[in-house]
Amino acid sequence: MSEGAAKKEERHKFQAIRGTRDLLPPETALWNHVEQTANEVFATFGFGAIRVPIFEPTELFARSIGMDTDVVSKEMYTFEDYEATELVELRTAAVTNVASLATGEALIDFLDRVGNFILAAEKAFDAGRIPRTPENERTLQMARELIANLQTFRYQGEREILPRVAELKDAVRQVRFGDVISLRPEATASVCRAYIEHGMRQLPQPVKLYYIGPMFRRERPQKGRYRQFYQIGAEVLGGSDAPAIDAEVIELVMTFFDRLELHGVQLDINSIGCRECRPKYVELLRAELLRVKDKLGPDSQRRIQTNPLRVLDSKLESEQGIIATLPRITDHLCEACATHYSAVKRQLEMRGVFFRENWRLVRGLDYYMRTTFEITAQGLGSQNAVCGGGRYDGLVELLGGPPTKGIGFAIGEDRLILSLQESGKAPAQPGRDVYIAWMGERAHATAIRAAKDLRKAGFSVELPPVEQKFGKALGQADKLGAKHALILGDNEVSEGLWTLKTLADGSQLKLPEPALIEHLRKSKAVSS
Ligand code: HAM
Repeated sequence: MSEGAAKKEERHKFQAIRGTRDLLPPETALWNHVEQTANEVFATFGFGAIRVPIFEPTELFARSIGMDTDVVSKEMYTFEDYEATELVELRTAAVTNVASLATGEALIDFLDRVGNFILAAEKAFDAGRIPRTPENERTLQMARELIANLQTFRYQGEREILPRVAELKDAVRQVRFGDVISLRPEATASVCRAYIEHGMRQLPQPVKLYYIGPMFRRERPQKGRYRQFYQIGAEVLGGSDAPAIDAEVIELVMTFFDRLELHGVQLDINSIGCRECRPKYVELLRAELLRVKDKLGPDSQRRIQTNPLRVLDSKLESEQGIIATLPRITDHLCEACATHYSAVKRQLEMRGVFFRENWRLVRGLDYYMRTTFEITAQGLGSQNAVCGGGRYDGLVELLGGPPTKGIGFAIGEDRLILSLQESGKAPAQPGRDVYIAWMGERAHATAIRAAKDLRKAGFSVELPPVEQKFGKALGQADKLGAKHALILGDNEVSEGLWTLKTLADGSQLKLPEPALIEHLRKSKAVSS
């Protein structure tokens, strides 16, 4: 490859990773507007902002969201976080590229390399540089025994030793160098962890928190589905599960969407029962599904065993008729759950929130109980859920905290923005108020001062860094959509009268600085 071609190749190398994207102006103006509105609306409901880390122990998500969910079993970005980098090399040297153990010498050489690794790992273990977990202790012990065993083995050929060598390699691979952590696929688990960690139970209850930020899921990217996406979420944690809390949380999202003038908003609600009634319903559902198993697709057939509720989520055309005949959870709620659900609906009506009951709404995360809800909006195609949420009493306890009730939701900000854009709601990035066209050294000094004063007065100012001919400067001002050009040349500076050109009509005024700022203020007030 020629040098030029190589350079070109290098230049083309970097692109945002699949499923991630750059958000650019003017679109980011809409993101800012949405987030600003969230800050305002959420504050009127008494919510305070929380910022939780982007990564947490994998175990936190596995335990909360559930091992069998798609999010945990397939979609998390997980890695080992370690400092003992020398161990990586020793391990690689020990177990990869083991060509052949066809001779006694080759076996001794292999055992030497593995022995070196185990020695170094033991040192790191004692020094606390790799996790001092019982698993690591057991694995190191086992590896040591396997080495000793193989060392005393009278070499008679590769075939006999291979099972033991495989066992040893496995043990070596199992040594954990650091904590296993994941990029957060959602934030409810983290908020619950923070609630426990900071003893928020001592605060006036319930504690109302909200967050805005990126989440990560390794899903197949498509319109409205990304691997790094953004959520605006809220959680209410405390001692009470009063139905009014559920209704107010839902009212909050609906108020927010209303303020943004989101189109085609549809709220679906359901109750998925509690630890008492749900398992009985799930068994009933499983029995019914087994009777119609042959008519279901492979995914649903698998879910009969793993999670029958998820069959209700199916969008497969051929399954819709069957699903319609299945028993409905709302007919199998225990009395306490049925009462709670009725009260939530009454509370929503009192708040003037329109909803549709959807008995098939089960949600994809394990921590939910009782109230669940989802909101769809216009213009999103198949990924049309713009918000999902529900009650998760018991999650805080599951994570080692005190018995606590919880409910919350998360809005997919990317989808929210997409829907707003589809309905033409995108506010344009505000253009510059003033472009300063200056010429000459003295004028430059004045221009710098003028820019400072105008910006202090709240105007958006473009101050070109190098001198330009007035014609070119005015062209540039036009391209940037500036409303005015402030012309500063030698004459203006010596007279103390500045020339202000309004670009829309070409009119020109000569004014001293204070009058000019006043004039700009008035013209801005008229146009906004
Ligand atoms: P979720 O239903 O998994 O719930 O996600 C909530 C919303 O995030 C979805 O309705 C969707 O708008 C958006 N979303 C999810 N995955 C993606 C993706 N790959 N690309 C773009 N947007 C996406 C939760 O995350 C729960 N933590 C909500 C919650 C809070 N429940 C109680 N409290």
